[in-house]
Amino acid sequence: MSADDVRVEELRRRKAQAIAGGGQARVSAQHSKGKLTARERLDLLLDDGSFMEVDPLVEHRCRDFDMDRNVIPGDGVVCGHGTIGGKTVYCFAQDFTVYGGSLGEMHGLKICKILDMALKTGSPVIGLNDSGGARIQEGVASLGSYAEIFFRNVRASGVIPQISVIMGPCAGGAVYSPAITDFVIMVDGTSHMFITGPEVIKTVTNEEVSFEDLGGASTHARKSGVTHFTADDDEEALELTRELISMLPSNNLQKAPVLPTMDPIDRACDRLQSLVPDNPKEPYDIIVAIEETVDDGAFLEVQSEYAMNIVVGFARLGGHTIGVVANQPNFLAGCLDIDASIKAARFVRFCDSFNIPLLTFVDVPGFLPGASQEWGGIIRHGAKLLYAYAEATVPKLTVITRKAYGGAYDVMSSKHIRGDYNVAWPSAQLAVMGAEGAVQIIHRRRIASSGNPEQERERLVDDYEDTFANPYRAASLGYLDDVIQPSETRIVMVKALGALLEKEEVRPARKHGNIPL
Ligand code: HXC
Repeated sequence: MSADDVRVEELRRRKAQAIAGGGQARVSAQHSKGKLTARERLDLLLDDGSFMEVDPLVEHRCRDFDMDRNVIPGDGVVCGHGTIGGKTVYCFAQDFTVYGGSLGEMHGLKICKILDMALKTGSPVIGLNDSGGARIQEGVASLGSYAEIFFRNVRASGVIPQISVIMGPCAGGAVYSPAITDFVIMVDGTSHMFITGPEVIKTVTNEEVSFEDLGGASTHARKSGVTHFTADDDEEALELTRELISMLPSNNLQKAPVLPTMDPIDRACDRLQSLVPDNPKEPYDIIVAIEETVDDGAFLEVQSEYAMNIVVGFARLGGHTIGVVANQPNFLAGCLDIDASIKAARFVRFCDSFNIPLLTFVDVPGFLPGASQEWGGIIRHGAKLLYAYAEATVPKLTVITRKAYGGAYDVMSSKHIRGDYNVAWPSAQLAVMGAEGAVQIIHRRRIASSGNPEQERERLVDDYEDTFANPYRAASLGYLDDVIQPSETRIVMVKALGALLEKEEVRPARKHGNIPL
C-alpha cells in the first residue's frame, strides 16, 4: 500500500468507527425498544442526501474511570446541517448507543458549535434528544457543557426557531434546554422528561410514581403543558418537525413563508352561518370556525390536549402562515384560566418574535372564577396574555363570534391593545358581563321591591340584552372595524391581512420589558 492509501484507509477506519457508534448489539437494543438510531432519525428528518456531518471525529478527553480505554469518535452525538423542504436547518441527534447518549464535555461542545452556526447563519435548529443526561464519569465538565448549551438557547431565543424532539430519556437539568426552545415534540411511550426520577421521588417524598406517569408524553401533553406535540413513534415525530419547519421563517428578520393555495380567497364560509347556537349557554366547537376560515381547512394545533379552553396553532391564510388563537366554548365555556393564559401568551410571543400574523377568535365569558385560580395567581398569569398581545407588533386580526365579556374582552386582542382589524359576527355580545349577572348586580333593589320580582327580573334581562347583547354599541364607538356575516369571514380576513402585511409599528426602545413571569 502506498502512503496515500494508508492515509485514506486510516480516514475510512475512523469514519466507519464513528458511524458504527456503540456497536450492533446496542443498535439492536435501540431498535427493540421501538426507537431509531440517531443517523436513521436524521435521514428521515432531512431532505434526501442533504445531511452534511460536522465533527464526526471529536472524542472525549476524560481519563477517569478507564474512560481512555473507551473512546468512540463522535462522542455520542451526530451533528450537522441539511435541508427541510429546501430550507437549511442545523441539527444534532444524540446517539443512545454511545455511553447512553450521555452528555460529556466534548459532546456538549459539539452541540454548542451547531447552535453557534445556526445563529450565525440565521437557520432553525433542531435537537433530537435521547440521553442518560450528564455523563457521570465527566463530572462538572459535563455540567459546564450543559450550561454552555442553555446560554446559547437563550441567546438564540426569538432569533432563530429552536425545536426539541424528545426521543428517549431526558432527565435532570437536561430538560432545561428543551424547555427554553420554542417547541417540544415527545414520542409516546419511549420518551420521558423529568427533573428528578421516580426513585429519588420515592426516597425524598415517599411518593410512588411510574416513569410514564411522571414524565411520559401524555403527562406532559395534558398535565404539565411541557410538550407541544405528541407523536406515536419516531417517524411521526420527525414528520411533524418537518411540517412545523415548513410553516416558520428561518429567523426573526425574515417574513413568514408563503405557500400558494388553490383554496379560493373569496370562498364563502357557509358552515359558519349557523355555527353559534341561539342559546348563549350552549357550547360549540371553535375549531370549525378556524378550519372554515383558513386555507384548505389545514390547522396545525399546538398543545391540543392542554388547557383546552383555548386553542392555538398554525395555519395559512391566502398562503401566508398565521398563528391562530381562539377561545374554545366546548371546554370551561371558553373561560380564560391560568393555564390557558400562559399557553396562549407564549404562543403569541413566539408568533410576534418570528413575524407571524395573529388571527384571534373570541368567545370568552371572562376569567374563570374560583379561589384556586386566585391563589394560583390568575392576576399575574392572566396579565401575561394581556402583555403578550399588547407587546405584539405583528398584524393582529380579531373576530368576535359571541361573548366578549369583562377584562377578557380587553385581553383578547381588542382594539384598545392595538388589534389592527377587529370585526364581530352579528351574534357577538360585548359587555362587562352576561345579562343575568349584570341585572342581579345593578337592579337588585329594584327587583326586590317590585310587586312581581321574577317578571321584573326577566324584563330587565331582556332590556340589558337589547342594549348590550349585540355588537352595535361597540361598532358605533369604533371599537369594531365592522360587523360581518360569519360566511364572509375568510374573504374579509384574507383582505385585511393583505392590507397589513407591510405594517410597521415600533414600541419604545428598552433593554427588555418586564413581563409578569
Ligand atoms: C454515563 C450513562 C449515563 C450517564 C446511561 N449511561 N446514563 N453513562 N452517564 N448519565 C450508560 C450506561 O452505563 C449504559 O452503558 C448505557 O448508557 C445504556 O444505559 P442503560 O442503563 O443500560 O439503559 P436503560 O436501561 O435504557 O436506561 C436508560 C436510563 C439509565 C434510564 C437513562 O441509564 C439511567 O437512569 N441513567 C442515569 C440517568 C441519570 O441519573 N442521569 C443524570 C441525570 S442528572 P453500557 O456501556 O452498559 O451500554 C443530569 C444533570 C444535568 O443529567 C445537569 C444539567 C445542568
